[in-house]
Amino acid sequence: MMTGTTTKFEEIAAREEQFQLATYKKFPFAPVRGRGSWVETSEGERYLDLYGGHAVCATGHCHPRVVEALKSQAERLLFYSNVVYSDVRAVAAEKLVACAPEEITKAFFCNSGTEANENAMRMARMKTGCERIITFTGSFHGRTADAISATFLGKYREIGKPNVPGHVCAEFGDIESVAALADETAAAVMLEPIQSMAGVRVAAPEFYRSLRRLCDERGMLLIFDEVQTGVGRTGEWFFAGSDAADGVVPDVITLAKALGSGVPVGACLTTEGVASVIKENDLGTTFGGGMLAMAAVVATLEAIEEDGMLANTRAVEVYLRESLASVPGIVALRGRGLLLGVEFEEPVAAKVQKALLERRIITGTSSDARVLRLLPPLCLTREEVKSFVEALKEICG
Ligand SMILES: Cc1ncc(COP(=O)(O)O)c(C=O)c1O
Repeated sequence: MMTGTTTKFEEIAAREEQFQLATYKKFPFAPVRGRGSWVETSEGERYLDLYGGHAVCATGHCHPRVVEALKSQAERLLFYSNVVYSDVRAVAAEKLVACAPEEITKAFFCNSGTEANENAMRMARMKTGCERIITFTGSFHGRTADAISATFLGKYREIGKPNVPGHVCAEFGDIESVAALADETAAAVMLEPIQSMAGVRVAAPEFYRSLRRLCDERGMLLIFDEVQTGVGRTGEWFFAGSDAADGVVPDVITLAKALGSGVPVGACLTTEGVASVIKENDLGTTFGGGMLAMAAVVATLEAIEEDGMLANTRAVEVYLRESLASVPGIVALRGRGLLLGVEFEEPVAAKVQKALLERRIITGTSSDARVLRLLPPLCLTREEVKSFVEALKEICG
């Protein structure tokens, strides 16, 4: 029997490879514990984590408030489904809605980002009676049938064949291309307000404003997939309603990743207008809204608030921008808050990522070979940024 810290990496890797489908390219280490922006491996090596388990660990690894809330909830009641009321679900829904722009009044809990997007698209079709969903070049919305059909990045739609009909693709940032597809069959425009996997692509604030206007004119819903941008990642609770969105509030916001600090949980947030057409049994899930996940949501929101992580995110972004300006080979820092794409002059992101990993710093790549992605915990410090920038200088100098 293997036990946590005494297990050596080779044994862990061999066993996973033997018994798990080989669907992921993996980093060559096995983290066994974590704290803040750091993880420690089975070999006792410490890594600075600027990838955050793919944007999930926003409160940092094992935030004490989250750990305590999970322990205490686990001792009280691990789970009961949505056929009962729940004290902790009631608090989670209220708190989440309170963090959102005021037009957003209702939450629906599920288990992942792809599931949140599936439900958002269903809500749009129910509200409008129409089928067509307009998404964008470079979009990534998940891997279940409807979500993968809405994903126009790379080969995902091909993997997801046969695709759900009714999905069409506009040019990200180009309102005319959206208008051309917005016919009487269109139910919704869905977008990641910052396209993360595509290389951290951001549109001008006017684009979101024009989308809102077009959706209102043509009776379509506007859906923001905030699976990555939500829950504080951009230095605001949500991209929706922020200055970067020119204050635009969509009809549905989808969330996952950071929402449970690592406990799987997704959500759709929506307006009274949309909620009014959703009836009993229209949406559902066994695990969504379970007590353990809800305890994680409450603790995550409280940790972000009490530790001042929104302000920290904005301050660290400024510091990163200043510090990276002096690193050779970097031409831009894309994105907002701590969803950032370091853009190099050349397509060297994978090489730089590997060199950083050798220096025990974890970062991400993207579908753009010039862009290295940073999705660190929102508690990242200046000291940690300094170590990253020093390492980059060594690599790029
Ligand atoms: C923007 C966006 N939407 C949806 C998803 C799918 O989320 P999940 O993997 O939780 O299903 C992801 C996952 O990376 C994502 O980045």
